[in-house]
Amino acid sequence: MSEHAAPPEGADFGHDFARALDAADPLRPYRDWFVYADDTIYLDGNSLGRLPKGTPARLQEVVGDQWGRSLIRSWPRWTEFATAVGDRLGREVLGVDDGQVAISDSTTVNLYKLINAALDLRPDRRTILIEKDNFPTDLYVVQGIAQARGITCVYLDSDIDRGVDVSLVADALSDDVALVVLSHVAYRSGALADMVSITAAAHEAGALTLWDLCHSAGSVRIPLREATADFAVGCTYKYLNAGPGAPAYLYVRRDLQSQARQPIWGWFSQRDQFGMDQQYAAADGMARFLTGTPNMLGIASVDEGLNAIADAGIGQIQEGGRLLTGYAQLLADEWLRPLDFAVASPRQPSRRGAHLTLHHEQAWQVCQAMIARDVVPDFRTPDRLRLGFSPLTTSYDEVWRGLDQIRQIVQVGEHLAFPTERAAVT
Ligand SMILES: Cc1ncc(COP(=O)(O)O)c(C=O)c1O
Repeated sequence: MSEHAAPPEGADFGHDFARALDAADPLRPYRDWFVYADDTIYLDGNSLGRLPKGTPARLQEVVGDQWGRSLIRSWPRWTEFATAVGDRLGREVLGVDDGQVAISDSTTVNLYKLINAALDLRPDRRTILIEKDNFPTDLYVVQGIAQARGITCVYLDSDIDRGVDVSLVADALSDDVALVVLSHVAYRSGALADMVSITAAAHEAGALTLWDLCHSAGSVRIPLREATADFAVGCTYKYLNAGPGAPAYLYVRRDLQSQARQPIWGWFSQRDQFGMDQQYAAADGMARFLTGTPNMLGIASVDEGLNAIADAGIGQIQEGGRLLTGYAQLLADEWLRPLDFAVASPRQPSRRGAHLTLHHEQAWQVCQAMIARDVVPDFRTPDRLRLGFSPLTTSYDEVWRGLDQIRQIVQVGEHLAFPTERAAVT
């Protein structure tokens, strides 16, 4: 099933088959590591991952012991926390050696820091390439920086379901392109970009690459090392299960670190922070990409979220995601295609992350009807239902029941009772 979503031997569309898949699933024991508060069918772990059972106690330890009892005396153990947990995330999730990842700020702020750092490394080049369907915050940050620097932003005309391919990028590269900003897994369709070939094409043209890993970290293997990718950013609240507003991470390839400078010269990136010098001097290594005081509670939560991933291993998680999306695609083809749904993700599981997107003209109404039945998907403009399967926490039973609920809703037209106008906040 992992390559072409062909039904496994003896597959049928009955509920028992979903239960049998769960019984044989090597990732099944990890469900016990997470909180399932009720019977909600949760197909949105790629927006906000479930709460690991260990996190409340871990936060209580940081609050009660480290803060409550030890107060400021906890700083010696906190100073290295952003880079130590960054190293762990780098090893377990990004597949890179220590000293190249730090936990810091939000994805948006890290984009700002690293795009500026990259442009300063290519001062004679005046163009940034970005996919036109990249995540909005990536687009907005690039637009703001392009305007402030008076440089050009060129949009790659990618297909919203198939994403970017190497020829699209290669055709747009020139000796004026400083930086290529792309998502590894597309937020809308889940399309997986060929990081290795695209980075090679960019490097051949003398450009740098910055990868947004928000939808790939914790769902697929990320070939940063193999690609010799230059920069990357990502969030921790999706498949990394660190919770709402948990801090993001950034990756800078080791050999670029001594030349790269980010523009927010905060005291946590100062060489001798407590020397209180009046003149800024950038620290060595990943510390130079920090800004102000890191969020210790947030970093503890990132560290806690990494436990299950480290135990299961990213290879097994990737395979689990392919099987879950493959199974969902089988059910969607069988049950939902006759109801005017179409798969709007690459059909081959190996060409996508761990979510499956379905096109339907009334996707917004279907989404609301599902939520009214305690089935939580995501809606994505213009008319897409996005179903996120988190390999550590989503069961085949949940997939079966979730798709069955969609079938039931649309068969009887239950969704038509919901507003057609999309609410401003979703
Ligand atoms: C691909 C991608 N990039 C960036 C972000 C947002 O980053 P931030 O954590 O700064 O809100 C998201 C949020 O969902 C995302 O999906």
